[in-house]
Parts: sequence; C-alpha cells; structure tokens
Amino acid sequence: MEFNFTEEQIAIRDTAREFAQNEIAPSAVERDIKAEFPYDIVKKLGEFGFMGMMVPPEWGGAGFDTISYVLAIEEISKVDASVGVIMSVNNSLVCFGIERWGTDEQKERFLKPLASGQKLGCFCLSEPEAGSDATQQKTEAVKEGDYYILNGIKNWITNGKNADVYFVHASTNKELGHKGISTFLVEKETPGLETGVKEDKLGIRSSDTCTVSFNNCRVHKSQLLGEEGMGFKIAMETLNGGRIGIGAQALGIAQASLEAAVRYAKTRKAFGQPIANLQAIQFKLADMATNTDAARMLILEAAWRKDNGMNYAKEAAMGKLLASRTAVNNALEAIQIHGGYGYVREYLVERYLRDAKITEIYEGTSEIQRIVISRDILKD
Ligand code: CAA
Repeated sequence: MEFNFTEEQIAIRDTAREFAQNEIAPSAVERDIKAEFPYDIVKKLGEFGFMGMMVPPEWGGAGFDTISYVLAIEEISKVDASVGVIMSVNNSLVCFGIERWGTDEQKERFLKPLASGQKLGCFCLSEPEAGSDATQQKTEAVKEGDYYILNGIKNWITNGKNADVYFVHASTNKELGHKGISTFLVEKETPGLETGVKEDKLGIRSSDTCTVSFNNCRVHKSQLLGEEGMGFKIAMETLNGGRIGIGAQALGIAQASLEAAVRYAKTRKAFGQPIANLQAIQFKLADMATNTDAARMLILEAAWRKDNGMNYAKEAAMGKLLASRTAVNNALEAIQIHGGYGYVREYLVERYLRDAKITEIYEGTSEIQRIVISRDILKD
C-alpha cells in the first residue's frame, strides 16, 4: 500500500492551492452575494489545463491522473465550491464521456475545445419527472433521415446558461425503456435549444443552474455519442466518475470548515482561555478531522481504482456519500463553534453550509449512493 503522492501530484495540488488563494478567493464572497458566474476564473482554469485534466494532450487536455484531479478540485472547492462544480461537470461529466465513447471526429469537434477550456460543457439528464429515477426519460429524439429531432425539457442543469456544448440524454425508442436511451452532443446555437431562467439557489450561487428545453431541435446523426440505446450506460458510467468530482468538492468544503473552526477556536477566548482548550470544542474538532480524512481516503481510493482500470462505482458512491455528509456536518459544527459570528457572512462558514447541502443532492442523492453501494455488496 502506498500513501505518498508523486511529485507531479503534489505540484498540481500546490498550483491549484495557489490559484485558488490568489485568483478565486478575493472575489468569492461578492460572487456568492451577486450570484455571478466566474467567467475570467473559468478561462484561466482552462489555461492551466484544469478544465480537461484527465484528457490526453492530443485531445486538448492536460493528461493528468484522477488523483491529481481530486487534489485540485478539493483545493479549489476549499475556497469556492461553485468553481469546483463548474470544473467537475466539464471534466467528469462531459469530457470523460466524449473521450470514452466519441469518434475521432467528435473528439476533434467537441472534446478539444472543451478540454482546453475554450468551451464549456453541461450534462443534461435530469428532467422534471426523471431525477433519481433517471430511466424515465421523457425527452425524445426521433430519427428523420440523417437527423434526430429532439423534444423535451431538462432541469437542474449546472452550467446550463453558460455552456457551449450540451451532453443530452433522450429516448430514441420508448418501448425499450432505459435500453432505448441515447446520448447526443448538441451545440448551443442549434435552433430549438433554449435555456430557462437561472435558478435562485441556496448555495453554490456563483455557478449557474437552469432548465434547458429542446423544441424540434435538429441534430445530425454524427452527433450521436456511441450507438443508439447506449445512453443510459453512458450516463451511469459517466456519473460514477462525476461522483469522484463531487466527492472532492464536498471534501473541499469539509476541510475549509475544519480549518476555519480550528483557527477560530485558537483565537476566541471564553472563560478566561482560548475555546480550543475546552473539551466540548476539542471533541467536535476531532470528529470533524476524522470524518474528513476518512472521506478523503475513500475518494482517493476510488480515483486510484479508476486510474488503474478497476471498477470504482461503489467506492465513488461511498466517497461521495461520506464526503457530502461530512461537508454538511463540518459546516454546521464550524458555525456552532463560531457561535453568533458563524451565522453572519463575515466569517464564511455560513456559506460553507449553504454550499455543502447540494452535494447530498446532485449527481445522485445520498439515497441513490446507498442504492449503488448496497446493490454492489449484495450482488452474487
Ligand atoms: N454504473 C454502471 N452501470 C449502472 C450503474 C452504475 N453506477 N447503476 C446502474 N447501472 C446499470 C445497471 O447495471 C443496469 O444495466 P443493464 O440494463 O445492462 O442490466 C442499468 O444501469 C439499469 O439499472 P437498474 O436496473 O439498477 O435501474 P434502476 O432504475 O433500478 O436504478 C439508478 C438506476 C441507480 C437508481 C439510476 O437511475 C441512478 O443512478 N439514478 C440517479 C441519477 C443521478 O445521479 N442523477 C444526477 C443528475 S446529473 C447532475 O446532477 C449533474 C449536474 O448538473 C451537477
């Protein structure tokens, strides 16, 4: 068993940490208040290779491993979880799928600009009546000659407003259920593709979330990813990797909450001493640190398994399940340790709580992660 990071992994983590501190932190509070998308930051992340971290350089990416990806997302999410999810969706849900199932022509046309950060992607699976029960896709793609005509509505789409490429799941054969779902790569300019009003969210406010509708949207057959009927498999396998990204995002929030709580406990005095001397505070900090480390180990194990060609669906689900719960718990405890100061914007921990909650919901709720884990451990 090897617990050391390579020199390259450490260098990537340090680069992400420095970038987060210097370029992301100064504007994070204001962007949260104004719900402003971080255009300049996303552009710079692309220049650093962080928008296509695991894509080989021949297709515009940085060619890093998944462990480096986890380290980078954690560092960035420690400072701003909104930037973490923008990055995770582009890397894990969009670039991964095109690299894994795309033709060379699709990689040239879609992957290169997405992986190099010139363009941004979003993942369209959820619908008003198909969230956790993702097999129930109502969006349809009907073949007409060399084209598919897409009709339907997707919702809760991260990057929906600002994306250039939409990774869309639609049914090409309703009778076949989930085996009749297919995946399409659709460009923003395509007539019939429309985005709805940006959601006014509790947290991750600097990332954009909206509905995306397809009204007789004509998509050429060369934009079908993989084969007809492969879409649900593509969605599920893509989400396995997505859960590593969101797990790392949650880890960033958990770690930031812990560090804020430690800092405050060492300086705040009560009953004639720093509150860090009180056992009630020490026990909270001990539990926060233990759960954060445990979640980190699970996520790194999932990343390591992915890098080594092993199954990682269960480990990714476990990592996301624990990291997202830990993010919420740590943020709550950080607020409790700060007392009244934790309840106001100035001390950041209130944002950590608002940002943490969504990690238990998107890319599979915690209940869905338990389904994925239990099915794996109960299978013959
Ligand atoms: N990895 C690989 N394959 C999987 C899988 C996984 N984690 N989970 C299911 N599958 C496969 C099954 O093996 C099965 O394949 P076959 O048909 O070949 O046998 C197929 O998918 C159907 O699976 P089930 O029979 O288990 O279907 P189900 O309906 O009982 O359960 C589910 C499926 C696991 C609940 C699935 O619907 C699911 O994961 N739902 C959650 C969807 C989700 O995570 N949505 C997030 C939206 S995206 C998002 O949030 C993006 C964003 O913008 C941030």
